[in-house]
Amino acid sequence: MRALEEYTVENKTTRVLIFDTAEEIAEFAADAVTYAIRRKPHLALGLATGSSPVPLYRKLIEKHRAGEVSFARVKTYNLDEYWLMDPASPLSFRGFMRENLFDHIDLPEASVHIPAGDAPDGEAEAVRYEAELAELGGVDIQILGIGSDGHIGFNEPGERFVYGTHVTALTEQTRRDNARFFNSVDEVPTHAITMGAGDIMRAKKCLLIATGKNKAEAIRKALLEDPTPACQASILQFHPNAVFLLDREAAGELEMKTEN
Ligand code: F6R
Repeated sequence: MRALEEYTVENKTTRVLIFDTAEEIAEFAADAVTYAIRRKPHLALGLATGSSPVPLYRKLIEKHRAGEVSFARVKTYNLDEYWLMDPASPLSFRGFMRENLFDHIDLPEASVHIPAGDAPDGEAEAVRYEAELAELGGVDIQILGIGSDGHIGFNEPGERFVYGTHVTALTEQTRRDNARFFNSVDEVPTHAITMGAGDIMRAKKCLLIATGKNKAEAIRKALLEDPTPACQASILQFHPNAVFLLDREAAGELEMKTEN
């Protein structure tokens, strides 16, 4: 799958590929992940939840069913988990991953790494997860979405970048954005355990997927404004191998800039 267009950003490190549809983005990303697993069967794959990567996960399941890829030796590391949240709940990120990927591929349960949402001491759980990531030394490929407020993982806009895994309070915006998975916004947990910006930056390659108009402003800030913790995804400008996979709507504010 080839991108419709490549958009050149000033730092020239971040690649920005623009596609017509979410399906085409998924195909491109699935090809990249499959290729990487074929080259390195014990790949460490960083995963995200939310709507953006779901078409990618569907493609990976298809490829697995077609015998094109095996996850038998892959290890997965999710970005984040709600805290406090029962990992057995379908609303947990672990539940989301089971439903959208894990239950349909040959990934051993023991190879799944996700912070424990039910850990009574969230900070201690964050330290434990960080130690796992540190031992790994960074995932090979990190799949990312982006919040409408520019968050990656659940690193919310703030005054600084946090390096390691930590407990974070979700912003009202994020809780509203995620309310679609729950009966009401009041049921959305108030906190999450998330990889820090530093953990994400340690990935050898980042693939950020964004579709739809409500991501356009965050994408513009992430790519075109000076890196700032007010838009956490902007730290990716310093990543040596970050690729943004966008549809036309998410790239809307970039295109305006090229046309002017
Ligand atoms: C999810 C995560 C979040 C999402 C972001 C976008 O694990 O870390 O950063 O990637 O909130 O969510 P969607 O894709 O649902 O718009």
